[in-house]
Amino acid sequence: MARRLEGKIALVMGAGSIGPGWGNGKATAALFAREGAKVVAVDRDPAAAAETARVIREEGGECIDAVADISVAADVDAVVAKAIDTWGRIDVLHNNVGIVGLGNALKVTEAAWEKSFAVNSRGLMLSCQKVIPHMVAQGGGSIINISTIASVRYLGFSYAAYDASKAAVNALTRSIAVDFGPKGIRANTILIGMMDTPLARGGIEAAGRDIDAIYGTYTDKIPLRRMGTGWETANLALFLASDESSYITAAEIPVDGGLIARCL
Ligand SMILES: NC(=O)c1ccc[n+]([C@@H]2O[C@H](COP(=O)([O-])OP(=O)(O)OC[C@H]3O[C@@H](n4cnc5c(N)ncnc54)[C@H](O)[C@@H]3O)[C@@H](O)[C@H]2O)c1
Repeated sequence: MARRLEGKIALVMGAGSIGPGWGNGKATAALFAREGAKVVAVDRDPAAAAETARVIREEGGECIDAVADISVAADVDAVVAKAIDTWGRIDVLHNNVGIVGLGNALKVTEAAWEKSFAVNSRGLMLSCQKVIPHMVAQGGGSIINISTIASVRYLGFSYAAYDASKAAVNALTRSIAVDFGPKGIRANTILIGMMDTPLARGGIEAAGRDIDAIYGTYTDKIPLRRMGTGWETANLALFLASDESSYITAAEIPVDGGLIARCL
């Protein structure tokens, strides 16, 4: 059976993981490679990018690693150039990077607000802006932007800057889908729910909270009664990256075990 991304070049922003295990970005980069894509694994953390590339190559896949802070335009330029110089095109842009800032609208500092928007919104916009001209020139491509169900629903935590900066991701993705659909570019948003990733665990541990207790309060509300995994995000990303989703664009698709459907 043909692999689902055979012949495609995929640029994955935030392809590392902050610790051992599989975050959304690392699982997606690995799954893309398993399905035949040549992957550029980009991360702010050189060791995290290199680790993802090592795992992919160990599995027999093709991957180069690259370092960039996606909120810095020159960094994004450099990794896009590296992808084009190495493999000549970019068929899939997967924007996984996201940082969480605590605090409601009164508590959030201006600096925290700026930081969330610099990374979550501006960084993602920069990577789209630098890749779209290549996709237009080659006749199309698929952009997958990672957002959160917290961008469309209040989840019980006051993350004003995070929620607002991710809502900007949803709107930007819609705008790209409409503006560049005629050029063969599809752009979709994945709304992630409660996933058990190294980043999520690290945040709970850093706050000195008990992981099982915290996860228990989440899973009581999730219709499927469990946390999700990075692989479940990766499976949807794979579909959106592949030609199987050829008539799907401007969609916001949850991977959340049904949580978004709940009111109370
Ligand atoms: N884990 C969850 O429960 C959850 C829920 C909703 C949404 N999300 C979203 O999923 C995405 C990934 O989350 P995750 O928990 O799987 O993390 P992850 O394990 O995929 O790690 C993200 C990677 O991004 C990198 N990164 C951070 N800032 C960067 C920057 N400025 N430039 C380049 N790389 C940078 C980190 O070094 C890390 O390796 C984020 O966009 C997050 O908002 C996660």
